[in-house]
Amino acid sequence: MRDLRPANVIDLRNTQDSGAGADLFPLTVEDLTYQAGGTVLIKGIDLTLGAGGVTVIMGPNGAGKSLLLRLLHGLLEPSGGWIAWGGQPLDDAIRRRQAMVFQRAVMLRRSVAANIDFVLRLRGRADPARRREILEHAGLADRAEQPARLLSGGEQQRLALARALATEPDVLFMDEPTSNLDPASTLVIEDITKAARDRGTKIVFITHDMGQARRLADDVVFMHRGKVLEHSPAAAFFNQPASAEAGDYMAGKIIL
Ligand SMILES: Nc1ncnc2c1ncn2[C@@H]1O[C@H](COP(=O)(O)OP(=O)(O)OP(=O)(O)O)[C@@H](O)[C@H]1O
Ligand SMILES: [Mg+2]
Repeated sequence: MRDLRPANVIDLRNTQDSGAGADLFPLTVEDLTYQAGGTVLIKGIDLTLGAGGVTVIMGPNGAGKSLLLRLLHGLLEPSGGWIAWGGQPLDDAIRRRQAMVFQRAVMLRRSVAANIDFVLRLRGRADPARRREILEHAGLADRAEQPARLLSGGEQQRLALARALATEPDVLFMDEPTSNLDPASTLVIEDITKAARDRGTKIVFITHDMGQARRLADDVVFMHRGKVLEHSPAAAFFNQPASAEAGDYMAGKIIL
């Protein structure tokens, strides 16, 4: 399997000038497949995502949610099918306009401030006022000089999100970013995410937390066994999911 490095840390473009990424949409996925170790793990996915808002991806463990996110971001190469961002194939320029936050925060072994300065410098905007603004937004201004590794899990995740947003991405992928966090830290991450959405960043967010999905989702993609079983507006999905599997999943039943 080819596992490419995240591209957001080498973003040099000022993407906010381009109409907050509207040219990247619709995102169209056609007959996307991914296989590893002789097993087909993503099985012919067709999906269209519009600009803006929060798309929540749900589904049981092993459904293929993380794989799909990594394929969309270009961290994995599809085995077959197409991914087109506004009609364009995924390339480095598009990838640099996207950022990703993982379940476990990835920190530079340096200070909190240095973690932010690193991405600001790559964007040519490393100034202390901007860094302070970003850290204040993340509730970490008073921790700036502390080693990032000494932050708690929730604080590290806030820093990871702040750092991802410092690249001013047009698309932000989030893979269960709050699954290890307490309710208060979870809400802080959600607030920061919603603020980014309100600025026009497209959010694609994986969660198992039903309350969180209801709070954040504009539309819901439900996956099972490497397939997308449905893609519905949030109100429709939570009111009456189209697939029996999604209904069972939300009712807390084991689905096979
Ligand atoms: N490199 C790999 N080789 C073989 N199988 C893999 C590989 N990567 C993932 N898988 C399998 O693909 C399936 C989908 O994995 P994925 O991580 O996308 O699931 P998920 O929906 O994110 O689940 P979870 O909710 O547990 O995070 C799983 O059964 C996983 O074991
Ligand atoms: Mg996963």
